[in-house]
Amino acid sequence: MNGCGFFLPISDDHRMIRAMNANEKAAALRQRKGGIPICALTAYDFPTARLLDQAGIDVLLVGDSLGMVVLGFPDTTHVTLAHMRHHTAAVARARPDALILADLPIHSYDTPEKALASARQLMEEGADAVKLEGGSEQWEKIHAITTAGIAVIGHIGMLPQRVNELGGYRKQGRTKEAATTLFEDARALENAGVCAIVLESIIPAVAVEITAAVAIPTIGIGCGESTCDGEVAVVTDLLGSFPWFVPPFAKPEADLATQIVHAAQAYRRRVQGDVTEANESQTLRG
Ligand code: KIV
Repeated sequence: MNGCGFFLPISDDHRMIRAMNANEKAAALRQRKGGIPICALTAYDFPTARLLDQAGIDVLLVGDSLGMVVLGFPDTTHVTLAHMRHHTAAVARARPDALILADLPIHSYDTPEKALASARQLMEEGADAVKLEGGSEQWEKIHAITTAGIAVIGHIGMLPQRVNELGGYRKQGRTKEAATTLFEDARALENAGVCAIVLESIIPAVAVEITAAVAIPTIGIGCGESTCDGEVAVVTDLLGSFPWFVPPFAKPEADLATQIVHAAQAYRRRVQGDVTEANESQTLRG
């Protein structure tokens, strides 16, 4: 059964139900406030999108984290709109029931006009909604996009696109002033028309307060358990397929990195037999 939480309660023949359009999916997401927790994962390619959709994941986030875990950049500040278009299109080809949320990468929303033009490009590739980082300072940009009928999800707390200014990946909301700013940012985003807000690496008590203060769902990552209306995780953290950078809050359910190395070694043995020290010099590694 291919099941998406938006269709709950679900039947085996739910594929007979007309697929929701982008705005219907965004409205359904908004209505999940205080309901069944929203379950979101990043997806960057066609097969992963198909499998995650089959598992009933609600939101497939084509996150700009792809810059790190797919493209090998040190952080997300190297990601371009062209990268995001390419991967959004790959995910959209899976035609998931889940909502496809595409990140607006750094500098693609420097002005309201640019934000709207970039959002339109991601929608053309098959996104159902777009996400951008930042608080009240993004009000006009969010307003420009939502006024054009495109759903936006906000993102406050640890902002990976500002990792260099923030001096690393740190917990946010530690002081009363910082918590108050986050709280005001959440309110401003709600007022600008976002349909949900991602809270990243915010002190759990502050995440709980923000969740209680806004009428739209919050989706947490690194904010502790059950502090938000749902959770999002980077799929490679869940699958254990990117062992070189694993955030402390990651909870892997698999160890694909080890399985990949083992499978490749088994293949190598099948093709080459046992390579001894004596003939190792004939291989490319000799
Ligand atoms: O790009 C991404 O994966 C994200 C998550 C960290 C929420 O924005």
